[in-house]
Amino acid sequence: MTRRWSVWALATGALAMSAAAHAAPPTAAMLANACGGCHGTQGASAGPSMPNLAGQSKKALVEAMKAFKSGERSSTVMGRLTKGYSDADIVAMSEYFSKQKPTAYAQAVDAKKADKGGMLQEKHCGRCHVDDGQDFKDDAPIMAGQWLGYLQIQMDEYISGKRKMSEKMAEKVKHLSADDMDAIAHFYASEKMGETK
Ligand code: HEC
Ligand code: HEC
Repeated sequence: MTRRWSVWALATGALAMSAAAHAAPPTAAMLANACGGCHGTQGASAGPSMPNLAGQSKKALVEAMKAFKSGERSSTVMGRLTKGYSDADIVAMSEYFSKQKPTAYAQAVDAKKADKGGMLQEKHCGRCHVDDGQDFKDDAPIMAGQWLGYLQIQMDEYISGKRKMSEKMAEKVKHLSADDMDAIAHFYASEKMGETK
């Protein structure tokens, strides 16, 4: 290569690179920053009415975001918020949060309710919320270590019909009272996410 040629190649190379940097889409971590005020930058949420996302199943996160965006799932803030994101953004953020390490919060739960809830969950819910809710199957979310407050809100919304259940889940839930559902919420909240099975 002559010197002149190599200088030209360097200059155009640098130009191409700066153009690429401009056009580069935001990284998943940059996108996820917008969620940090409520869900924590690494998915450990700021308070009990907002779910932890760290370590959640990617599939469950994607499904939840898409359901918020389409309006199929009831919400206070997520419906409006998800409208600003493309499906690709949703997948990227879900991937990011699913890879964050869950924080094991010590939550105050009612031990008696948690005991009862553990038995009920095994019988009625464990087919999909597997391993005592510490793992997931298909698009069912992981439940272990989720905030009690958030779980109670979701249970109430399912029972009142505000949030729609899948037919198969509804088939199980219909045998349970509101107290039973509350007991199961205490059970899931009593577990530490990522605890040895
Ligand atoms: C202003 C607070 C706030 C912000 C910001 C926010 N969320 Fe949420 N998020 C919530 C609340 C509250 C819920 C419960 C549903 C509702 O009421 O909207 C929720 C629910 C969710 C759920 C459902 C989880 C589950 O277990 O079903 C997902 C997924 C989620 N948010 C992802 C995100 C992502 C990704 C962002 C950033 C783009 C984000 N959220 C930004 C408050 C927030
Ligand atoms: C046939 C599979 C199946 C069974 C059985 C099932 N679930 Fe679910 N569950 C799901 C799926 C899938 C979702 C994800 C979103 C949705 O469909 O609402 C979910 C979501 C949930 C959520 C919301 C979690 C979140 O992060 O927002 C709660 C709470 C819940 N289930 C409780 C229960 C309880 C309690 C039982 C037993 C009485 C049960 N489920 C049985 C499949 C199931």
